Amino acid sequence: MSEKGKVVLAYSGGLDTSCLLKYLQDEGYDVVSCIASLGQPSSERSDIEAISDKAKSLGAVAAYDVDIRDEFCEDFVAKAIYANGMYENKYPLLSALSRPAICRHLVRVAQKEGAVAVAHGCTGKGNDQVRFELECKALDPTLDILGPVRSWNLTTRSSEIEYAQAHGIPVDATKASPYSIDENVWGRAIECGVLENPWNQAPKGAWSITVDPEEAPDEARDVVIGFEAGLPVSIDGQRMKLYDLVAALNGIVGSHGFGRIDMIEDRLVGLKSRECYEQPGALAIIMAHKQLESLCLPGDVLHVKLDLEHEWSRQVYNGLWYSPLKDALDAFFASTQKTVTGEVRLHLYKGSCTVTGSRADSSMYDFGLATYDKGDTFDRTAAKGFMDLFGLPNRVWAERRLEREKAAGLLGAAQIQAMGVKEAEAAGTNQASAEGSASAGK
Ligand code: ARG
Repeated sequence: MSEKGKVVLAYSGGLDTSCLLKYLQDEGYDVVSCIASLGQPSSERSDIEAISDKAKSLGAVAAYDVDIRDEFCEDFVAKAIYANGMYENKYPLLSALSRPAICRHLVRVAQKEGAVAVAHGCTGKGNDQVRFELECKALDPTLDILGPVRSWNLTTRSSEIEYAQAHGIPVDATKASPYSIDENVWGRAIECGVLENPWNQAPKGAWSITVDPEEAPDEARDVVIGFEAGLPVSIDGQRMKLYDLVAALNGIVGSHGFGRIDMIEDRLVGLKSRECYEQPGALAIIMAHKQLESLCLPGDVLHVKLDLEHEWSRQVYNGLWYSPLKDALDAFFASTQKTVTGEVRLHLYKGSCTVTGSRADSSMYDFGLATYDKGDTFDRTAAKGFMDLFGLPNRVWAERRLEREKAAGLLGAAQIQAMGVKEAEAAGTNQASAEGSASAGK
């Protein structure tokens, strides 16, 4: 047992966290590694086992691997679908959703192993450090959270490679990406490198799960997503579990060149950053889900929900997944989804994805009420009275304003015209009678 006790490291197998594994040992900890499968490219059993073996070969006293692909979709992505979760109305939160799922397991492993702390390899400039720290603390406030990358001196890739070589950490230079990538089944985030200049167009090689819209097939494709109680359950009538459905949609939608996002994003730590994302399945699901909600939910619920969706997205982005406000918002969203059952047709063509149809058993769209054709059941005669009453406060307010303006002699030509000539003469100001008679002949 080392002097400082055990620490559970969120381990990816990459260079950063491999250096960290050694560094924590140098600092006097016994390191327990933990890697999670969330649908990133190396999610298969054999990949994950190889990564755990690497951790052990670098001195980890225990190596955990957790396959949380389904759990990630059912407990985290599902809530994002209810919430149509998009930070700054653009980014479907792929990294922000994965951290609370990973933290849940880091904390479980820490408790099982009697560890004193959890460690992550995040830099001091990003959002992920905030998420790891706040979310682990929210789950177990007694654990320490270590983020040594913020203070160690391995700030450049070459210093890291030197450290790795000196400590027997295998360095695979061919795997070095010019970007910082985070990936799971909900999408792929690409940052750093040439993207740091916001004027630079993202190079073709930055993208991986979407084809270039210019190279997308000439034939369009329709895809029908079926929903039950707010969650997608089928593609073109074929039922599948959420993980498989998102993965399949990534393939279908991405192959038609839809799903790329290129944005300037406001990080919680206060800086703006240029981020590219590929989220073909996520964007298509949210687009279809919103359409179905519009069909199935009353307008006032939709309008309040829209405001709360922004709040939910900020909470999740800011590392507050395990917070009372976010839980309360989830409860609100869940209560809105019971009738959101039906189908939405999307049309995919060379980089575009558009809704072309929707239907639902509990649709609130009523043909008789909406039609301008035969079969109209809407009582048009009631419209006049409706407007008299709906506009009543505004009318009274306008009348009072006019009275005040009359009293102050502030009437202009347009208002006088609106009042009618007779009224204007009665108002008796010089300007009013001059302009009033001038407009009287019109
Ligand atoms: N900016 C995004 C977010 O904060 C993506 C972060 C991706 N993380 C990474 N290590 N590349 O959610």
